[in-house]
Amino acid sequence: MLNSLAPRADFPLLAGNPGLHYLDSAATSQKPAAVLNAIRDFYETANANPHRGAYALSAKATDLYHDARSTIARFVGAVDSDCVLFTRGTTEAMNLIASSWGHANVRAGDEIVVTALEHHANFVPWQQLALATGATLRIVELTAQQTIDLDMLRDVVNTRTKLVAITHVSNAVGAITPLAEVVHLIRARSAAVIVVDGAQAVPHLPVHFDALDIDFYAFSGHKLLGPMGIGCLVGRRTILENMPPYQFGGDMIEWVRDFDCTWNVLPHKFEAGTPNAADAIGLAAAVRYLEGLGMANVRAHEVALLEQAESKVRALPGITVYGPPPSQRSGVLSFSLADVHPHDLATILDQHGVCIRAGHHCAQPLMRRLGVSATARASFYVYSDGSDVDALVGALTAAQQIFAAVD
Ligand code: ALA
Repeated sequence: MLNSLAPRADFPLLAGNPGLHYLDSAATSQKPAAVLNAIRDFYETANANPHRGAYALSAKATDLYHDARSTIARFVGAVDSDCVLFTRGTTEAMNLIASSWGHANVRAGDEIVVTALEHHANFVPWQQLALATGATLRIVELTAQQTIDLDMLRDVVNTRTKLVAITHVSNAVGAITPLAEVVHLIRARSAAVIVVDGAQAVPHLPVHFDALDIDFYAFSGHKLLGPMGIGCLVGRRTILENMPPYQFGGDMIEWVRDFDCTWNVLPHKFEAGTPNAADAIGLAAAVRYLEGLGMANVRAHEVALLEQAESKVRALPGITVYGPPPSQRSGVLSFSLADVHPHDLATILDQHGVCIRAGHHCAQPLMRRLGVSATARASFYVYSDGSDVDALVGALTAAQQIFAAVD
């Protein structure tokens, strides 16, 4: 039996529900007490509006918020922490780029490249930008194992390509993009800005922004043991400095004259209004927790669980598993059971205490290419163990018996 990497006792929700098999971490992760305590401590001991008060409590809040940014920057390998912007999550980060950089730089005749593997958050902003500007949207298709077709990417990227938006890890099937190869290929053919959706990568793989030679990288805190409502956009300084603000208001301003304004420096230019300091501090606590586990260990743990789950699930009759082999996936097992709608399957699994996601996973372009409206998806994380795999397989077997009886 594989043990969990992180003690389940560290996670109050899991500790309080010993019969629960939470296999929906790709949707959101459970939170360790260290994160919950950090948020509570902020409100109990340091709550004041950062950057605004000339008193010690506000200075403390400002320092904690600043330290949170530095901790997160270190975790994702961004030396220049002023280029790590806090957002509500990956979705807001992508909208920020599309709205600010996109509308300032993309024109009719330009091309925007996305892939058929993208989550809607890294597809719709670019589709809408193309519609608004008259640029052409080019969609890179997938291989039979739902990985990005690199030959097609090579053919599609050209000197008209203004931006390439690509996922680091697919939320729906877990496929990991070979980013170094992809970046090399794009750089050899174009001067395109490269935007990477890291929402499903940062929680599961070691990520080093500076080494990736990309322009933007976005991720969400709640998928990596942190709170909901906080995430980051990491950007290249030269690009961020030349972009117009995304939102206007307090803190992002330098001078407001009657008929024009000047903007604050990075990161403040892109953080209008009172920041979500408590959740940024909670996210930094999550990062420290993951650093304590070691991201290489997180990855190894997920591959071991996935290999075990996949061989057991594949042995069941009528199962189709999507995506490349486990060694090329994050901790995601996306599958379907012949003739059974994934929603029905998820409902039966829930009766066995097994939580999985069923649906299109906000990836309808991918579902269309798979020829399905939905899949069932089990996803693992640091607190998952062999008992979760066994519960999943046991519940699937029970579901098969129910549907066989109905037939
Ligand atoms: N993007 C999240 C998922 O894949 C919600 O489930």
